[in-house]
Amino acid sequence: MKETEIIDLRSDTVTLPTDEMLEAIRHANLGDDVFGEDPTVNQLQEMAAQRMDKEAALLVPSGTQANLVSVMSNTERGELVFLESQSHIYWYEAGGISSIAGLLPWPIKSETGAIDPYDLEAAVRPRNVHFPEPTLVCIENTHNRHGGTIMKPVQIESISQVAKEHGLKVHMDGARIFNAAIGLGVDVKEFTRHVDSLMFCLSKGLSCPIGSLVVGSREFIEKARRVRKVLGGGMRQAGVIAAPGIVALEKMVDRLREDHENARFLAEKIAKLDGIRLNLKNVQTNMVSFELDPAKTTDDIFLKELKENGVLALAQSKNKIRFVTHYGICREDVEKTASVVESVMSKKFLA
Ligand SMILES: Cc1ncc(COP(=O)(O)O)c(C=O)c1O
Repeated sequence: MKETEIIDLRSDTVTLPTDEMLEAIRHANLGDDVFGEDPTVNQLQEMAAQRMDKEAALLVPSGTQANLVSVMSNTERGELVFLESQSHIYWYEAGGISSIAGLLPWPIKSETGAIDPYDLEAAVRPRNVHFPEPTLVCIENTHNRHGGTIMKPVQIESISQVAKEHGLKVHMDGARIFNAAIGLGVDVKEFTRHVDSLMFCLSKGLSCPIGSLVVGSREFIEKARRVRKVLGGGMRQAGVIAAPGIVALEKMVDRLREDHENARFLAEKIAKLDGIRLNLKNVQTNMVSFELDPAKTTDDIFLKELKENGVLALAQSKNKIRFVTHYGICREDVEKTASVVESVMSKKFLA
């Protein structure tokens, strides 16, 4: 039962914890996690490592910190990191990769979010006194700015092969890696086997209030624990964050399918409308990204009209809009959204 009339499709980060999560927080066994003594954190970290088929995992407060900790634990200052040009690390993490990690980000453009191995090969320059040492490639799965697109395991394998040939490590920003796994109908391990490290978020489609996990080898996680401390992310009774995370891994992964079906439903409805440019091939998980015809409307007007009708969305760039489905959104909500979009687009407000 919905508590509010607002249909909030801005992001899956707006999800609220389930009753079971709140109960789990209340009853969590706690200890001091900086001493490694919080049993609930330890349990979640073991579960995460096992689920991703890696040796160890580390709980951190946010996805942004998870990426920064991972990047810093894979590199030394002054080195070069290849990443996709629309990646979250490059766009939305306040430049921490440069200002804090001291690295040179080297963006590579792609069609739908997956770096082409040939483009990576072409970007790697010979080791030479003029060039910063390249040491890491970051990939993103699913890809946020490309509308929740999936980088397939075979694509990760090809990138990883090129990376290995050049002595580079691969880190995956897997904030929504379970969406990728559910979207393709394969085990999440298929996505993790060809990367050295990854992070995933509990606080997006999995509905937790806080938390992300960094995952990799034991040695990498030991280093990451120290980097997390440097960044102020060492937490004490962090079992209150881990407890809902355990519920999320046990109960909230399979239901992501419902979010994907709702996104698909909405996309198919609005793709037909005049003034909306939407490529249905790119609607692969819980996001619906599309462009507005500038001759018809602008993102400001569109978002305002939607809001007046009880629907919230975000503009990702000029005239590029994104809807994200999640645990708080049911089929009725996407049906209503589709009809609101249809009525807004039928107006001639810019003519
Ligand atoms: C792909 C991706 N990576 C990282 C993050 C950062 O997560 P947080 O908002 O928890 O810092 C996000 C957040 O939306 C994301 O979409």
